[in-house]
Amino acid sequence: MVKKLIEQNRSCRRYDPSRALSKEEFRGLVELARLSPCAANRQTLRYALADGQRADIVFDSIMWAGYLEDGAPKEGERPASYILLLHDKNLGAADLVSVGIAIQSMLLGAVEMGYKGCIFGSIDRKRLKTALGLAENLEIVNVIAIGKPAENIVIEDIRLGDSIKYYRTADRTHHVPKIVTSDLIVEL
Ligand SMILES: Cc1cc2nc3c(=O)[nH]c(=O)nc-3n(C[C@H](O)[C@H](O)[C@H](O)COP(=O)(O)O)c2cc1C
Repeated sequence: MVKKLIEQNRSCRRYDPSRALSKEEFRGLVELARLSPCAANRQTLRYALADGQRADIVFDSIMWAGYLEDGAPKEGERPASYILLLHDKNLGAADLVSVGIAIQSMLLGAVEMGYKGCIFGSIDRKRLKTALGLAENLEIVNVIAIGKPAENIVIEDIRLGDSIKYYRTADRTHHVPKIVTSDLIVEL
């Protein structure tokens, strides 16, 4: 079960723009993050849903698919919803392991709901924080696009040393190279 969810949890960059995440679905995903482990149980992360016009603001502040020539989704294939992963800097430094766990919990929940997502680390954080009018103490850590996928995504097994760059083919398929298990295990 977990393997299937993880296999389906691929980074998606073309969406059905008419399918926004509902407030209830958003709350359900935050609930999964809330229940996830975090360093010293500090719980410094906060979550915001950006949809409608705010989704356009987010779109203009993130960088899509660095390995592709033209990786950003065209009008008509952009996600209608994003979740902003925020850290309350009044509570100390952000712990990135905790951030990763919270994001993965939400993404697996999104897959279970029939969605796919994409994590963004390449963000114009200053611009986005100002444009959204976020409180001073809230730092943008990551952005996650979430929506109904409008592309096929397949895993391609590769060997250590092969190209790790994802690529697209004309049949609207996004190919994600993943190094085979045997090449990842270090024998002691
Ligand atoms: C921490 C982190 C930051 C990422 N930042 C971006 C980003 O800024 N833009 C983007 O298009 N994809 C981003 N991605 C998605 C990766 O490109 C994607 O995970 C990778 O290509 C493997 O594909 P997969 O998620 O389907 O396994 C990010 C992923 C992670 C985990």
